Amino acid sequence: MKGIILAGGRATRLRPLTKITSKQLLPVYNKPMIYYPIDTLIKAGITDILIIIAPDYAGQFLNLLGSGVEFGARFTYEIQEEPKGLADAFRIGKNFIGNDDVTMILGDNIFDEDFSKKVSSFKGGATVYAKQVTDPERFGVVEFDQNMTALSIEEKPKIPKSNYAVVGLYTYDNRVVKYAENLQPSARGEIEITDLNNIYLKNGELTVNIFKGLWEDAGTFDSLLRVQNIMAQKHQESLKELQK
Ligand code: DAU
Repeated sequence: MKGIILAGGRATRLRPLTKITSKQLLPVYNKPMIYYPIDTLIKAGITDILIIIAPDYAGQFLNLLGSGVEFGARFTYEIQEEPKGLADAFRIGKNFIGNDDVTMILGDNIFDEDFSKKVSSFKGGATVYAKQVTDPERFGVVEFDQNMTALSIEEKPKIPKSNYAVVGLYTYDNRVVKYAENLQPSARGEIEITDLNNIYLKNGELTVNIFKGLWEDAGTFDSLLRVQNIMAQKHQESLKELQK
C-alpha cells in the first residue's frame, strides 16, 4: 500500500496567513499541520509516501520534511502546478503508485485515529469514511437507505441528503489510476474525488465506514482554531498521564 498526502492548493480562505507560506505548514499547536497526516499514514502502516505540493513553497516542505528518514518513512515529492482537483493526485501519482493500492489523505485533515486494521485488511474496491457533522454542505455528503447502505455521494450539495460528510482519507485499488485519467472536470472546474467514489459506488465496490473518531478539516479560521485547542488539550492530558 502506497500513501499520498495532497498538500497543494492556494488556501485563499486562510489569507493573509497563507500569503507567505502554505496552509499545510501552519502550526497546529506544537507541530506543523502536515505532521498530523504524516503520523496518520505511518500509524496506519504506510511509509512509502508521495507528498504533492504547490510550486510556491515547495522548498519549505523539503527543508522541513526531507527524505522522511526522521519519520521512519520514505518521502517522494511532486509539484501540482494548478489546483485541478483532488482526483488529480492519481494522475500526478501514476508512476509513484505503479501497480500498488493507494491511500490518500488530505494535507489539512487532522485525525486522531489508528486506521491500521482497516488499511491492512483492504481487499480491493474503495474504502471511505463518513462522519456526522453539523455543516454537511461544506463536504462530500453520503446518502444512505434505511439499512445504512450508501446510495450516492454529492459534492457540497446545497440541500444535503444526510449529515454524513466524507472525511479526507481514502483507500483505492490500483484501478483508481485509470478511473482518474478518464474523469471530466465538474461544473466548478475540478476533477472531483466524489466522482471517483461514485464510480466505485455504482460498481458496488465502495465500502463506507461510519467514523466516530476525531476529525477536523483545518481549512477555515474557525476549524483551525478548534483543532489547535483540541491538540493543546490532548497534549496537556498526555503530560499529566506521564507525571502520574
Ligand atoms: O475535508 C474533506 C472534504 O475534502 C471532502 O468531504 C470533500 O468531498 C472533498 O472534495 C474535499 O473538500 P474541500 O473543500 O475540503 O477540498 P479543498 O479544496 O479544501 O482541498 C482539500 C485539500 O487538498 C487542501 O489541503 C488543499 C488540497 N488540494 C486541493 C485541490 C482542489 C490540492 O492539493 N490540490 C487541489 O487541486
